Amino acid sequence: MITLEEFQNEIMEGIPSELPTKAEYDLNLNHAPKRKEILSNDEKKLALKNALRYFPVELHTVLAPEFVEEMKQFGRIYMLRYKPKHKMFARNIEEYPGKSLQAKSIMLMIQNNLDHAVAQHPDELITYGGNGAVFQNWAQYRLCMQYLSEMTDEQTLTIYSGHPMGLYPSHKDAPRVIVTNGMVIPNYSKPDDWEKFNALGVSQYGQMTAGSYMYIGPQGIVHGTTITLLNGGRKISKEGESLAGKLFVTAGLGGMSGAQPKAANIAGCISVTAEVNPKATYTRHSQGWVDEVIIDLDQLCARVSKAKKSKEIVSIAYQGNIVDVWEKFDEENIYIDLGSDQTSLHNPWAGGYYPAGISLEQANELMANEPELFKEKIQETLCRHADAVNKHTAKGTYFFDYGNAFLLEASRAGADIMAEDGINFRYPSYVQDIMGPMCFDYGFGPFRWVCATGKTEDLETTDRIACEVLEDLMNNSPKEIQQQMADNIRWIKGAQENKLVVGSQARILYADAEGRVKIAAAFNKAIKEGKIGPVVLGRDHHDVSGTDSPYRETSNIYDGSSFTADMAIQNVIGDSFRGATWVSIHNGGGVGWGEVINGGFGMLLDGSDDADRRLRSMLFWDVNNGISRRSWARNDEAVFAIKRAMETEPLLKVTLPNYADDELINSIY
Ligand SMILES: NC(=O)c1ccc[n+]([C@@H]2O[C@H](COP(=O)([O-])OP(=O)(O)OC[C@H]3O[C@@H](n4cnc5c(N)ncnc54)[C@H](O)[C@@H]3O)[C@@H](O)[C@H]2O)c1
Repeated sequence: MITLEEFQNEIMEGIPSELPTKAEYDLNLNHAPKRKEILSNDEKKLALKNALRYFPVELHTVLAPEFVEEMKQFGRIYMLRYKPKHKMFARNIEEYPGKSLQAKSIMLMIQNNLDHAVAQHPDELITYGGNGAVFQNWAQYRLCMQYLSEMTDEQTLTIYSGHPMGLYPSHKDAPRVIVTNGMVIPNYSKPDDWEKFNALGVSQYGQMTAGSYMYIGPQGIVHGTTITLLNGGRKISKEGESLAGKLFVTAGLGGMSGAQPKAANIAGCISVTAEVNPKATYTRHSQGWVDEVIIDLDQLCARVSKAKKSKEIVSIAYQGNIVDVWEKFDEENIYIDLGSDQTSLHNPWAGGYYPAGISLEQANELMANEPELFKEKIQETLCRHADAVNKHTAKGTYFFDYGNAFLLEASRAGADIMAEDGINFRYPSYVQDIMGPMCFDYGFGPFRWVCATGKTEDLETTDRIACEVLEDLMNNSPKEIQQQMADNIRWIKGAQENKLVVGSQARILYADAEGRVKIAAAFNKAIKEGKIGPVVLGRDHHDVSGTDSPYRETSNIYDGSSFTADMAIQNVIGDSFRGATWVSIHNGGGVGWGEVINGGFGMLLDGSDDADRRLRSMLFWDVNNGISRRSWARNDEAVFAIKRAMETEPLLKVTLPNYADDELINSIY
């Protein structure tokens, strides 16, 4: 264990001038799979040259062969020798060295994203989703932390896909950090382009909250999944009926997907979640995120039947391939009420989705050595997967795509997954049916905060404040949003009991624009009064305004604009001059490289008047930008919400759509 002073010195030192000793490769950690060979010999030379530019020339003869070996072994150069000695976790903000409290809050959030209890592949700087990177290599981490420790509130640090380009003069209201991840010329946005640029060390996949330092462990998605399941349940239930005794089947116990069983328990149903990787299964089981693990399909059927009879609330992990579960439940006539999938299909060819019929080890070997055959096996599995789902939906199961590109990849594999019109998918995405009309269009989205002191008491106080604000708002809420308000109050009341914290003292709470502004202002006041320490605000990119993603966040936009990305870009630019502490904009995240543009922000509340001014301006924009776009797309709920926002803010004036008569249109075409 190193001392606080040693930690601070290591941060301030940046990339050491002397060669650090190399730590042993830790086999107990969950490591990223070997990335496929993509570079030509000349490109490998370029990748090596690119890696060496971080280090003094006299070290190159030692480092060059080491980096070549990493490229051979992992398909990437992570610079493992430069992994710091200090432990990765969100420390109390006061423990970070530096001149800017805002910069310190960013260091805290970066360390949280790399915490071994939080990150999926910590050595490879991957937070979640198989390839959601904070940095591409350890030199970037060291350099970035050094810059943050020396910058003032008159400077801005720019980060190009993990690479800290440098500090530039700016001003106190400017963001301290601007992050771009994976931005490329649109024609070069195919999955193999990512493989290549990433192997060259010039780009990275930031997912959503990985490369933007806003990941708060699976809690972030537990809330969203709970809301999705509750509202999905409302779609299939009779008035007043709950989810008791109903079965939810899905896959994935990884970074985000690991939240599914916990959410199912909170929503009150029986869940079966298949997971092929035993490390992921047993991690989630030991963390209490899933109640039981079963490795035999017959036992699984017996256990589910028993749970159905007694309407037990239980979450079961099946250690194996999801396709086997769907097929077995069909053979055994086990009725599935709700079905989905959260394997990493945004990344199907590099370990996001595993083929049925072969072991995990065999699959990993195939992926690295025979990528074409691996691809064939994946596509065969996807076709089987879709066929089995189709058999269940024919019996009445409500299946939804949970934003992991399942329908997209299944369709590309030639699976029977298209609707009769041959254009749309047979099943809705959860945003089309549930999250879009019920939440995003009204402005409800995954607002979150982190208590920067790391104190549980602070989190308890913020939970209480947020609950009081929501209860107060609910008294005057229109009926259209009463259900959402009630669900969110229920969530925040149960949040502590559900023991959701992994890593930093963080909380997620779906809230609309008014809720977010009022909660943030109440936090800032409590900080000013000394009741709590500083708080970092943020949100998932998966939100009302942050993400343009035609198969996910904007899949309920039907005016033809769902393939445009103006909203996400406008959002991040708008946030940056309205007071965000840092902003980020990413290509890829959730559904895959080239499939989505998404952005987000972080904002430090320090109890100052400046923070109060910034939060009001930025949060209002951050939500209402998306509502405006959704309303212009003729989404009734958003039209309702933006009209309401205009009533409360005289400076807001949004262009509203006129509705053309379908009869008129049809008489012409
Ligand atoms: N809907 C949302 O709000 C939302 C939010 C976050 C992430 N996502 C998407 O969900 C997906 C999962 O995210 P994650 O962070 O959990 O990724 P992850 O890679 O950490 O986890 C996916 C898990 O699926 C397992 N898996 C793969 N193929 C399987 C198979 N055939 N059968 C059983 N298990 C299999 C993997 O072993 C892995 O543990 C991603 O595509 C992500 O983009 C959706």
